[in-house]
Amino acid sequence: MTTLKLAISESQIQECVERLAQQVQADYQDQPLLVVGALNGSFVFLSDLIRQMHLPIQVDFIRLSSYDEATKSSGVVRLHHGVRTSVVDKNVLVVEDIVDTGLTAQFIRGYFEDQSAATVRICSLLDKPVRRLTSVTVDYVGFEVPDQFLVGYGLDYNQRYRELPALYTLEMGTDGS
Ligand code: IMP
Ligand code: MG
Repeated sequence: MTTLKLAISESQIQECVERLAQQVQADYQDQPLLVVGALNGSFVFLSDLIRQMHLPIQVDFIRLSSYDEATKSSGVVRLHHGVRTSVVDKNVLVVEDIVDTGLTAQFIRGYFEDQSAATVRICSLLDKPVRRLTSVTVDYVGFEVPDQFLVGYGLDYNQRYRELPALYTLEMGTDGS
């Protein structure tokens, strides 16, 4: 049996999103910003975050995958869709749901640096530093979390639970169901 246990509530998330939006706004000071969401996990966080930021922004998305099993990173990041907007000389803010091994974040950073972005920063709602396999810098972090699998607020397990308004830990029964 699978059980969901509340980890981070809706109001904690909203407070955190406001704090992050204020930090971003203070750092960019009215400069135009290209906000790029890493699909699929970041779409809920991104939509809340941009509505709290009062900056001239453009929004685009990239789609990547690193998981070949439901809860285990394959270690190989694949880019399925890049941005459609030119990033040359732009300030790019990458929005991620969670930085785990850091391989995805590192790949994205390289992807934008190679396209001559003026600056590249990463904003992640969640950070699991104990799982890190790279030294990638995450510029804005919402919550540091321990090594537990989380779902909700955009994050999935086998494409499920993205619609939940808060974050939950997923506890699997011994039969794996
Ligand atoms: P990384 O490349 O290992 O840092 O993995 C980043 C991606 O793995 C995230 O964007 C998520 O899609 C997925 N991921 C890592 N940990 C979790 C989790 O606890 N719940 C849901 N997805 C996760
Ligand atoms: Mg995912």
